[in-house]
Amino acid sequence: MNDYELETAEYLKFGLKIFQVFRFDDDDEIHCRQYWNYCENPNNGVWADMGSGIGTVGYYLNKFAPDLTVYSITNSDYQHKYQTNFFKEQNNSRLISLKESFLHTSLENSSVDYVSFNESFGYEDADLAMKESSRVLRSGGKLFIKEILKYENFKDNKSPGGWGYNVYSGKTIISSAEQHGLIFKTIKPLRGSVLEYLKFMRSSKKMQEWHPDLKFWEFPEDRRSWCAGQGINVVENFVIDDIDIQHIRMGIPRQNLTKLQKKFSHVLYCFEKQ
Ligand SMILES: C[S@@+](CC[C@H](N)C(=O)[O-])C[C@H]1O[C@@H](n2cnc3c(N)ncnc32)[C@H](O)[C@@H]1O
Repeated sequence: MNDYELETAEYLKFGLKIFQVFRFDDDDEIHCRQYWNYCENPNNGVWADMGSGIGTVGYYLNKFAPDLTVYSITNSDYQHKYQTNFFKEQNNSRLISLKESFLHTSLENSSVDYVSFNESFGYEDADLAMKESSRVLRSGGKLFIKEILKYENFKDNKSPGGWGYNVYSGKTIISSAEQHGLIFKTIKPLRGSVLEYLKFMRSSKKMQEWHPDLKFWEFPEDRRSWCAGQGINVVENFVIDDIDIQHIRMGIPRQNLTKLQKKFSHVLYCFEKQ
């Protein structure tokens, strides 16, 4: 069973309607508006939100830009049912729920202006996700990926917690996009926090039970000082890598990043379909 068949109800029990670790604001509308700003405020066309959760992001995108048609795509039954009811209540034909894998959607070739992944890209193979994104995007269409940032010599890895989430390096994301005619445009560091998610993980006994190896709420003091010595920033028991994003594309090794270093944990990649 998909984790989200169980976990969606748990998120909702704690009042969370956006399933993202990294947030711009605790308020959903402010968070989504900030996201829309990072995407440069598209105000019409067709948007496919891949791995949409319960459709909260899609709902707000259309609220900010009523001429946007949004397909909210999830492989979870629970989420699809929730979205379908929610969108029906809005009585808005521009909000559409699809229960499909984002690797094989029913969207037609070149039919979409924007594709987004909000902390969902890592659930699948990068190459296949890029292939499908490229297939559905029209020429000049944009792909946005909100992801954890990993430096160019980071080896692609699974995230802790047992979700099977792939943490891809910037190099993997950019090179797999370009193999599918998706040209790298920008990578934006995101300003926000993981605190809301941490509060949830600390409060939910079920989440702790389902993800026993996620121990970041008990980050030991000696580990904290070790991290500080390595130049790794620890925010509220959560480790954040230290990286200057400008260097990912140029392939400059991490040890050469010194003075220009800033602290970012999540970024928004933007690509354009050729
Ligand atoms: C971390 S949640 C993010 C949810 C959503 N983007 C949000 O902002 O609330 C990951 C989402 O990806 C979905 N997902 C994972 N693999 C998928 C796949 N192959 N096809 C469609 N959705 C998928 C999950 O069901 C879940 O909705």
